[in-house]
This record gives sequence, C-alpha cells and structure tokens, in this order.
Amino acid sequence: MNQKNIRNFSIIAHIDHGKSTLADRLLEATGALSDREKSDQYLDKMELERERGITIKSQAVRLNYKAKDGLDYILNLIDTPGHVDFTYEVSRSLSACEGALLVVDAAQGVEAQTLANVYMAIDQDLEVFPVLNKIDLPSAEPERVREEVEEIIGIDTSDAVLASAKEGIGISDILEAVVNRVPAPGGDVDAPLQAMIFDSWYDSYQGVIILTRVVEGSVKKGDKIKLMATGGTYEVQKVGAFSPHPTELPKLAAGEVGFVIAGIKVVEDAKVGDTITHQHAPAEKPLPGFQEVKPMVFSGLYPIDSGEYDALRDALEKLRLNDAAFSFEPENSLALGFGFRCGFLGLLHMEIIQERLEREFNVELITTAPTVVYKVTTTKGELLQVESANMLPEVQFIEKIEEPFVLASIHVPNEFVGAVLNLCIEKRGVQRELKYLTANRVMVVYELPLNEIVLDFFDRLKSITRGYASLDYEHLDFRPSKLVRLNVLINGDVVDALSLIVHMDKAQFRGRELVSKMKEFIPRQQYEVAIQAAIGNKVIARSTVKALRKDVTAKCYGGDITRKRKLLEKQKAGKKRMKQVGSVELPQDAFLAILKVK
Ligand code: GTP
Repeated sequence: MNQKNIRNFSIIAHIDHGKSTLADRLLEATGALSDREKSDQYLDKMELERERGITIKSQAVRLNYKAKDGLDYILNLIDTPGHVDFTYEVSRSLSACEGALLVVDAAQGVEAQTLANVYMAIDQDLEVFPVLNKIDLPSAEPERVREEVEEIIGIDTSDAVLASAKEGIGISDILEAVVNRVPAPGGDVDAPLQAMIFDSWYDSYQGVIILTRVVEGSVKKGDKIKLMATGGTYEVQKVGAFSPHPTELPKLAAGEVGFVIAGIKVVEDAKVGDTITHQHAPAEKPLPGFQEVKPMVFSGLYPIDSGEYDALRDALEKLRLNDAAFSFEPENSLALGFGFRCGFLGLLHMEIIQERLEREFNVELITTAPTVVYKVTTTKGELLQVESANMLPEVQFIEKIEEPFVLASIHVPNEFVGAVLNLCIEKRGVQRELKYLTANRVMVVYELPLNEIVLDFFDRLKSITRGYASLDYEHLDFRPSKLVRLNVLINGDVVDALSLIVHMDKAQFRGRELVSKMKEFIPRQQYEVAIQAAIGNKVIARSTVKALRKDVTAKCYGGDITRKRKLLEKQKAGKKRMKQVGSVELPQDAFLAILKVK
C-alpha cells in the first residue's frame, strides 16, 4: 500500500487508564475481531497478563480502516508495555511509530507513568494527541484533566477526544484523529534495508517471531538477512502482519510494520532494538538507539523439593527462550541446596517469572529476598559484579563498593508531600526537584539507591499516600557506598540464603527488625529456635522462637469433625512452603522477612 495511507501509532497511558480496553474497541470498530474474540482483551495475550490486568509484551496489530475521506487506510497499532521495568521496550515500540494517543483517565488525571511515556514519545518526535477516557464515570472531570494535561505536559488539548472505551464513546473520532493527525511514514522503498526489531518472541512451531518496523528498503520471503548488532545471518521464511491473526504478505516495505520469521532459534539472537539489513547490499549503519538490557535485580530460586531441580532448570530454560532480559545461573546454598540465581529487569519482572514458574511449569519454589547488583573493587584491584550477599568478599579484601542509583519521579497530591519527602530521606535519597504541577499535584524527584527501592519502597509509598502516589524511575549510575553484609544465624549457624547487603548506618536497625519479624514467621517447633543477626562476628540482635508443638486442633471441641479436617488441611497447605534448614523448618515468609522491615 501507498505510504500515504499508512499510519503507525501507539497508545500510551498510565497503568489502568484504559489502554487495553481502548485497543480492543479499535479492533472491534475496524472489524478485526470476531464476536467470540470480543469478549477478551485481545492484545493481552497471556492468561497471567489478563489476570493481573497488565500488559507485558508489546504487539502490533494491522487494522483496515475506511476513513470519512473515502480512502482506505492501514492503521498499525503498536501496543506498549505499561510498566517501569519495560521502559526500553516501550522506547523501541514508540520509535516504530509516527504518532501516539495519550490516554488519560478523566477521573484520575496525569500520573507518573503518563509523563514518562509522553516525554519519550515527544523526544522521538511523535505527534501526540490526548484522549480523555472514562468520561462515563460519575467522577470524571474532563475539563479539569484537560487543563492538567495542558499545564503539565504542555500539549494542546483543544481537540482532545472525549471517550469511554468501556461504553464505546468517541471511538470513531479517535480513528479519524489517527488518520488526520498522525503523519504518514516516510522512507525510501529502494534504499538498502533497515528494519528495527521492536519485539521478538519464541514460538515452538516457527522459532523466533520478530516484530519489525521497516524504515528503509523492503524485505520479503527468501531474502538473506543480517542482524546488525548480533551479526547473525538468516534466510527469511515468511513476512506478514497480525490483523490480528497472522497473515502472510508478499513483502514488507519502508513505512510498514509486521512480522519476520527467519529460522532464528532463540530470542537472544533477535534482540529488541537491533536492525535487520540484507546480508548482501547491507545498509551502511544500523538504526540508532540499540541498547543491551541488563538485569538489575537478582534473587535466588530454589525448588522446595530438591528432586525438582532438573524440572526447574528446564522451566527456566524455556522461559529464557522467550525473554532475553531474564538470566539465570546455578547457585549452591548451604541452607537451600541447589538452585539458581536469577536476574530480572525489576521487581515486576521478577514476580511475573516466579509466578509463571509455579503456575505454568508447576515447580514449587523458595525465593530469596531480591538484591541489586553491586560493583566491588577488591584490594587487589579486581572489579567484581556482586549479585548476592554471598558473593561479597570479606571486608578486609574490599577496596570499594558501588551501588546502583535511580532517578525516581513521584507524583502525589499536595497533602502527602511531607510524608513522601520523609520516606525518601529515610531511604537515603538525594532531592533533585520538587515541583508543583498544579495547585494540588506535586512532582517529587529524588536520586535513590535501587537497593532501597527493591526492599519495600513501593509498598511504603502506597501506604503513606493512601494509594495516591505514582512512581516512575530510570537508572542513573553507580555510586560508592558504605555497605556491609548482614548475616542471619539460626541456632548458631549462618543461613547463607538469608544474608543481605545493607547500608552500614542501617545495619543495626535492620538487623533488629529482621530478627523480630522472622520470629513472627517461624512457627514453633520441637526445639527452641534462636535467631540472630550479625555483622562479621558481631551479633547485633537476637530473638527466640519458643519450643512448643502446636496442635492446631486443640481448640476444637470433640465432635466437630469437618472443622477439624479443615484446620488440618490448612496446616498442611501452610507446611508445603517450608524448607528444612539444619534442624529447623523455615517457611517462605522467613526468607522474605526483610521485605517487611521498614
Ligand atoms: P494496563 O494494561 O495495566 O496498562 O492497563 P490499561 O491501561 O490497559 O487499562 P485497561 O484497559 O486494562 O483498563 C483498566 C480498567 O479500567 C479496567 O477495569 C477497565 O474495564 C476499566 N476501563 C477502561 N476504560 C474504561 C472506561 O472508559 N470507563 C470505565 N468506567 N472504565 C474503563
């Protein structure tokens, strides 16, 4: 199709502002969905995504639309993931577009994620136009939100579309706006091929499926292609588009969006941001913006039943096939036995992987508290990447430890600013900016150690602001810091899986709080259980779980057998997630107790 009749656009929104619902409406309105499919949120593919209501993978759908000007258009809707862990994928998806719909919940207004994404879109010269969604809600205040968008983001809202994705209001206005406001793509169809990968995933029948935006030239079946960052060469087996079902096409040319299948075996070989060119007659240089994404948060995953080690490894390998950002390597813990140290982009990414392992692969896990990656310089001048407390050398061998910092923007209503500032200070933050966005909304920008964020920052933030704060962050740099290893001893033995890296000034407090929390989580057992926290050889806190065999049925009086059975079942279920460590049984909660410490 003529480039003039193509529109590539994205929807950007804060989480829950209605992006997926609106995308479904657009699919419906252009006849892309069958009746049966209308019931589901089509773009959110995985069961897990639907359940949690978040979008993990970006996707692209081709919609055929006859506009009011009587012409036929192809609208490529490129979906973006809506969470801070996936910022890089969002940036690549946006760079495949010429325009973006900015969906703002008309009852809630502009949130942190709205801003982060909208700035990214503006940086990439996208035409951004606002859609005020959820106008059906009694609490919707489109006029107030319209002003807020103008004031905060600085874009014209005079022709913002008022919509309700839920009730199907404003949908045709949105389609018309896409045609009239989003610029048509450019690019020379006869130039050497440059196509940007903005998503890729593994399919067990076809191998890796690449989603791409062709920027220059064209690609078709049989072409020999080369991926410029990884250097791999392949023969194209199929090109096409999702409309929304996969449909093969003769070729994809400059300006178009679609899929390429080329016998690639693992997603690692088709990285997001890489450029596809032809093996013979290649482009001079790759498209700008390619970045390697690196895991920033690590956690140990151990099978509860050590016989499931192989099953866990197989499951991790399968997940990795589809997720180049996730890493794992074998790890051996004295306490937990054989397991894996896994790397994730962030906390959400971690939760998703853990949940998929248990749900889809049926492996029961004990997970250790998340940690960030530290850069350690030893006295011998070696530079180590430390991903767990156990990898930290003894104090006398450490010259310098550096920890990752992030730049966090927090949006809060006025009344909570004080509480948020206190929290940031407590978390070792350095203030960068405090700005009134409107009379009642404040943006607080802090440099914060990622270490503090992975612990409980987000939960604390939500609770002190009664859920009104929104948070977005980006990685800044590594900074020297006074960090120490905090050990936990159970009946005198160090349990390696419980060791932590903490800031020296907080070690005392964290140690004390940690042992008292663990006491709550460790059930009474036949022997007394002593819990100690120590830095080096110095014990800084202690608590004891008294010996007592807990008979949960003691309080049921005779006769009530169903009640008794229920209690026993409950006890059994609670037991499942226990791991025998020496003579003591530790529940999963004990391993994550640090997350409950302020
Ligand atoms: P993420 O995928 O998590 O980024 O969320 P999203 O922005 O895609 O939001 P989603 O479409 O999942 O909608 C979030 C919630 O808002 C759902 O419960 C929707 O049913 C609801 N919702 C979406 N649009 C409207 C609307 O126009 N009116 C009302 N009342 N509710 C809506």
